Amino acid sequence: MKILVAITGASGALYAQRLLDNLNPAEHQIHVVLSNYAQQVIAEELPGGLRLPDGVKAHNLKSMNVSFASGSNPPDVMVVIPCTMGTMGRIAHGYSEDVLQRAADVVLKEKKKLILVPRETPLSLIHVKNMELLLLAGVTLIPANPSFYSGAKTILELVDTVVARVLDHMGLPNQLAPRWAEEKE
Ligand SMILES: Cc1cc2nc3c(=O)[nH]c(=O)nc-3n(C[C@H](O)[C@H](O)[C@H](O)COP(=O)(O)O)c2cc1C
Repeated sequence: MKILVAITGASGALYAQRLLDNLNPAEHQIHVVLSNYAQQVIAEELPGGLRLPDGVKAHNLKSMNVSFASGSNPPDVMVVIPCTMGTMGRIAHGYSEDVLQRAADVVLKEKKKLILVPRETPLSLIHVKNMELLLLAGVTLIPANPSFYSGAKTILELVDTVVARVLDHMGLPNQLAPRWAEEKE
């Protein structure tokens, strides 16, 4: 698969790191693009910065000279993780002012898979209306809400409860987080 991971300036850069850590560049073509504000949040939240696994290709936000800026060569899946309310709103309303927004526009018009991992609390009516519009357009929303029933003991394990759901929706088999099992007698 051709996969585009877009990282924006919402809290939760670790979600992006863990997703990248769990994608196999030998098996998939993996592209990364960061919003300007993503850099600032990464500096706050990821000691040592973002680690791009070998084989992952990072792209300049401002250059439209990338394959996925065109409907003739879209990614199969694009994940915006974590996704700010700003980027979510811009995607919902068709802004295509940089490569990240344009790629999302392309993915939507070409009927490929777009997964957003929004992170904000509380939500305003504007956020919710944008989410409604995106859902109507076929976007998958996986809020960055960890689950606790798996008994996670570390931040990484909690983060992985969200990343596991993202991988599930990308169609990528994973054992990243325990799954709810049948009732125990
Ligand atoms: C440390 C930090 C954490 C932030 N967390 C969030 C967040 O969780 N959600 C959000 O929507 N914006 C958050 N913001 C604000 C966005 O970075 C800001 O709105 C920015 O304009 C978003 O631009 P982008 O969507 O291009 O990344 C945060 C900013 C900083 C500096």
